[in-house]
Amino acid sequence: MSMVDPKKNVLTVACAPEVKESFISFLEGANVLDYSAYEDFENLIEDPPEKDFHLILAGAAIEGLSPIELAQSLKMQYPSAPFFFITHQRDGFDRKVYVKNGFTDAYLLPIDFQVLQKGIRAALLSDANAPVYRSVKLLDIQPNMELNFDVSIFLPGNKKYIKYISAGDEISPEQVEKFKKHRVQSVHVAETQIKSFYQFTAKRLEHLSGNKGGMSETERQERLQSAVREIVTDLFNNTSASATTTSGKEAAENVRGIVKEFILNRTPGPWYEKLSEAMDDKGDAYSRSSKVSNYAALFSIGLEMGSPEDLATAGLLHDLGMQDLPANLQQKDEEEMTKEEFEFYKLHVDFTLRIIRERKLIIPTSVQTAILQHHEKFDGTGFPKGVQGSKFTIEGQILALADRFEGLTSIQAGKKRLTTLEALRKIQNQGVIDPEIMKKAIKILPKDSSD
Ligand SMILES: [Fe+2]
Ligand SMILES: [Fe+2]
Repeated sequence: MSMVDPKKNVLTVACAPEVKESFISFLEGANVLDYSAYEDFENLIEDPPEKDFHLILAGAAIEGLSPIELAQSLKMQYPSAPFFFITHQRDGFDRKVYVKNGFTDAYLLPIDFQVLQKGIRAALLSDANAPVYRSVKLLDIQPNMELNFDVSIFLPGNKKYIKYISAGDEISPEQVEKFKKHRVQSVHVAETQIKSFYQFTAKRLEHLSGNKGGMSETERQERLQSAVREIVTDLFNNTSASATTTSGKEAAENVRGIVKEFILNRTPGPWYEKLSEAMDDKGDAYSRSSKVSNYAALFSIGLEMGSPEDLATAGLLHDLGMQDLPANLQQKDEEEMTKEEFEFYKLHVDFTLRIIRERKLIIPTSVQTAILQHHEKFDGTGFPKGVQGSKFTIEGQILALADRFEGLTSIQAGKKRLTTLEALRKIQNQGVIDPEIMKKAIKILPKDSSD
């Protein structure tokens, strides 16, 4: 039984028989145009059919034509069709590079078989005119709060989105109760309103960190912590089995959107004011990652190096892998660890990247590299790779700076909390990053910042 609309046009290009075999049954009922042989491909480029394709599936069967060249030649012709690259060839497979160069997604068979199946179904069953929805988490919702975007809920039975709360309406106490009772994990917001959703979430965070709600300090801290956890909740809650490239892309994009609103568009004013403000947040009111995220973005702005948005994202995600370490090790300082403990601790970097991969979070390469490098040192004595000099990327260095800075300036039992200048001097003496960048970091501090 096929549910594919016969009016859906699919173009297949450069697909070897074994690749075609992997998806042909999902296309049953659609109008498929196949241009897989070399001569066909030449024809396609010279005389492309003027059809509206709902999906393009491309393989690597044409010798001498790289997937990227293929992507670029077809993307110009059919800019709006979802465009999948499918291969059995693990060597040189790099999803990020393909996506950057024009493919909507890339699938490595056989492991991506199920995701491919879902992707094809989604492309062929969806109504082209229907709004595109993003799955999001509503942060810290309270009764009578007003939302500036429509909240929809997906009914799996009818494969339909229904509007649950309209923009401009208040959330009723009953609705809040319902969310809680049914443990609604995510709601849907139309892509066109996603900016409003980011602004809303950023405002919630700001509100919680500013204690404008008249709640007790404990309640405020609890709410703030769970709010930050909510932001990255997709990473914690989605089991890797249910993660798809699409859900991963969405989660990563939501994180980026929110950190951008929260950190960059927060209070107006120069970077240093925002830095001091972030540092004033009491003790552990923020999770450490959220602070590192703030600091990394702000150092990036102050130093005019790297992308603040990418660094904020990297800061938020960099220590995800710590959750896989034993609880007692998570609390310890590097200096207090035994040799064995330290060896184990070093693995958290790999654990983080593994979680990102498993959750299929599609994040920029620079973000991934920064995360991988956040414990490296400029002289090559860091871990896990011991990279040195220019191999230590700008993003990696700024994240390392922000991570150390957070450690030195946060309130911790039995430890002196350093001022901005003291912390930067200490990091400078430890030779963590490029001495030139360190010099600049100290130079850009306002003159009266020694307190
Ligand atoms: Fe770390
Ligand atoms: Fe860290």
